[in-house]
Amino acid sequence: MQRLPKIVLALLIQLGVLLVVTVGVYLAPAVISPPYPYWGLVFIQALLASLVSCRLGLPCWWRWIQFFIPVGLYLGVLLKFDPIWALVIFVVVWMVFANAFKERVPLYLTNNTTREALKNLVKRKRRVRFLDLGCGLGGNVAFMSQLKPVAESHGVETAPIPYLISKMITALRGGQTFAMDMWKTELAYYDVVYAFLSPEPMPRLWNKVKEEMLPGSIFVSNSFAVPDVEPSEVWELSDSRKTILYIYRL
Ligand SMILES: C[S@@+](CC[C@H](N)C(=O)[O-])C[C@H]1O[C@@H](n2cnc3c(N)ncnc32)[C@H](O)[C@@H]1O
Repeated sequence: MQRLPKIVLALLIQLGVLLVVTVGVYLAPAVISPPYPYWGLVFIQALLASLVSCRLGLPCWWRWIQFFIPVGLYLGVLLKFDPIWALVIFVVVWMVFANAFKERVPLYLTNNTTREALKNLVKRKRRVRFLDLGCGLGGNVAFMSQLKPVAESHGVETAPIPYLISKMITALRGGQTFAMDMWKTELAYYDVVYAFLSPEPMPRLWNKVKEEMLPGSIFVSNSFAVPDVEPSEVWELSDSRKTILYIYRL
């Protein structure tokens, strides 16, 4: 069960619970006489689905999603919500978070404290070529492009809406972003490669880093260490989320 994509597992759990609730409705007249209010049945469905999800292999925080799926659908029916809007919302969400489904990497952004740390990392270097793997809205690329030691600042991004925003931001503030899959980048070109992704791609990414990056270059991962690889340095930052930068000197 745990090998199934989470969204499929979540839907199977909802269907399983629906089956249980349906059987319950058939058996219930022996104890409580009908009719049963729809909101009550929806509440039971939502509650049961959220209670069993964690035990059946979904991350425990998905219990909230599992609770609000039936409640949201019910409210949508009550309010006669046009399904076309659901489709529009889905498409927009997909265009922002496409990589959450494909790569298990959602969009969240590097903060200013972390950018200052990146600035410190390059300040004594000359002619740095910087790359942000999965550059989101392009903020890091623009920021790094303005630093004296940085000769080129690039970013790659495949989610359509963040990519378009990154294009606008870098056009205004400097740097360059490309609509490119990070797995197709040539890391050998860069002196500092930065990634703020998720635990999921780190082992594969480390193989790419080892194969391509040149001696003397630096790979920085925000928050997610490469499993079983000792970083050269670990920087604990003083921002509110206590960001940790894992620095690997090749
Ligand atoms: C956590 S965000 C970080 C954004 C930005 N680097 C920052 O630090 O502010 C990760 C980004 O990586 C992008 N991403 C994930 N997998 C990717 C891939 N294979 N190729 C390009 N971009 C990818 C996601 O779309 C997302 O925008």
